Amino acid sequence: MKTFIVGIAGGVGARLARLLTSAGDQVDGLYRRPEQGEHLAAHGVHATHGDLTRLDAPTLATHLDGTDVLVFAAGAGGEGGTAAVTAIDGTGLTTAIEAARLAGVPRLLLVSVFPEAWRDREVSDTFEHYIDVKKKADAALAATDLDWVILRPAALTNDPGTGRVSLAPALIHTQVTRDDVAAVLARLIHTPGIRRRILELTQGPDPISDAVRRQIEK
Ligand SMILES: NC(=O)c1ccc[n+]([C@@H]2O[C@H](COP(=O)([O-])OP(=O)(O)OC[C@H]3O[C@@H](n4cnc5c(N)ncnc54)[C@H](OP(=O)(O)O)[C@@H]3O)[C@@H](O)[C@H]2O)c1
Repeated sequence: MKTFIVGIAGGVGARLARLLTSAGDQVDGLYRRPEQGEHLAAHGVHATHGDLTRLDAPTLATHLDGTDVLVFAAGAGGEGGTAAVTAIDGTGLTTAIEAARLAGVPRLLLVSVFPEAWRDREVSDTFEHYIDVKKKADAALAATDLDWVILRPAALTNDPGTGRVSLAPALIHTQVTRDDVAAVLARLIHTPGIRRRILELTQGPDPISDAVRRQIEK
């Protein structure tokens, strides 16, 4: 099994890369800052340097040879304003979709967001733009013929993983650790029976293996 992670040096992406590598999977991915390559290599993770906003789909596709699953875990992460969100979370995803199609990658997992995230707070135009771009990215992926899965985690924390979550088509937005998001993604990668589904993810009572298994054949 070979997985390519766009955003492999990110909070979720790096955790996922380490999990898959230690389980013996082949892993590659795109990282933006040159120094991140050394850090990933120190954890036994091979990755590819490149800026998603400067790559076209045919160029990205050349890195996807033999890839079974493409994971899109990149995001502007609050840097660069609305233009960066549009370029990375929005256009970046459509570039990845097109690259998957060109390279014959059958499956694409997208790390998205709850559309109603933090509606209990006063939200800014910047946050509204982020949610709008994320929702349009979900729609773009759901319109493809790929074996897609859209995973919408609640607010991410760096607390240690609990191994327990709630995973379902509709949940109330709370929190979830990046460790647990990565562990759910790793399970989903190895559960091809879950396809063309939107799943929301929060911290919860269910062991991750049970939570994922329960979503097969629903
Ligand atoms: N924060 C939350 O509470 C929350 C909640 C739900 C969903 N999400 C979504 O979850 C996803 C993963 O979150 P995270 O915390 O892992 O994010 P993160 O730590 O910011 O990781 C995102 C990665 O994407 C990379 N990236 C950004 N622009 C790029 C470009 N042009 N080319 C290549 N790589 C690029 C970043 O590179 P650099 O390291 O160089 O910046 C970073 O490593 C994001 O899409 C986010 O929108 C976040």
